[in-house]
Amino acid sequence: MDPPRVITTLDDLRAAVGPLRRAGWRVGVVPTMGALHEGHLSLVHASRAECDFTVAWIFVNPSQFGPGEDYARYPRDLQADLDKLAACGVELVFAPAEGEVYGPEHDTWVEPGAVAGPLEGEHRPGHFRGVATIVLKLFNMIAPDAAYFGQKDYQQALVIRRMTADLDLPIEIRVCPIVRESDGLAMSSRNAYLSPAARRRATVLWKSLCLAKELVAGGERGAETIARRMREVILSAEDARIDYVALVDPETLQQVERVDRPTLAALAVRIENTRLIDNCILTVE
Ligand code: PAF
Repeated sequence: MDPPRVITTLDDLRAAVGPLRRAGWRVGVVPTMGALHEGHLSLVHASRAECDFTVAWIFVNPSQFGPGEDYARYPRDLQADLDKLAACGVELVFAPAEGEVYGPEHDTWVEPGAVAGPLEGEHRPGHFRGVATIVLKLFNMIAPDAAYFGQKDYQQALVIRRMTADLDLPIEIRVCPIVRESDGLAMSSRNAYLSPAARRRATVLWKSLCLAKELVAGGERGAETIARRMREVILSAEDARIDYVALVDPETLQQVERVDRPTLAALAVRIENTRLIDNCILTVE
């Protein structure tokens, strides 16, 4: 397949996408920070199946990283990303430099509401403000018909859905299932930070979610009991540190006491200092 065209300026982006939109093409966007893996590529496949034209966005957004987080060392390999996107048939990649996105006087931010408060919001203050701001900017730059996000960042998808509805954006938000390695570890660009031994230990995240599913299938309904058993599985891995293990309402993200309706099990765990997140919906038969 031909390599995609790489655009770095807003003017070129609008010149490329505007005529397609005016011709009535359905435009899909896949927002990413690069370091692409099969999870991202599943979003590309979904967009290409549902849209006439797909734009992949690659930008490591500084405003969603807190002080001391991994912005500086976040993996960046544009050429490898372009090869993967070419193999999926993507024609256009927007990969702006930081100055193209945030001018020196940039001083306007999107402040998401209650759904951004718990879980990641508690542990990464300001994270969703940065995400919501960049995603709104991206929506305004591309004016897509549909945008594709992964379920691994469950709370991010909720924040973006809320923002899209509240700000009357005419964009369909599509959320695609988590893609996992063969041992269950959710695919993530940050998995690349893990040493081989830590990579093996990281399977405790998925094991703890599987245990939660088994407990619910076996009749357990107590959220605290399930969360405690999940924590035990996670802490069986040497050096695992838990940010949160939470059983929450899938829409509000408020804690539940009993799992007697669909419930989100969400977790954030540090293994060898790499912060990993994962989740699943617990369903009651
Ligand atoms: O999910 C991500 O990779 C990022 O949060 C996003 C949506 C591309 C915004 O920078």
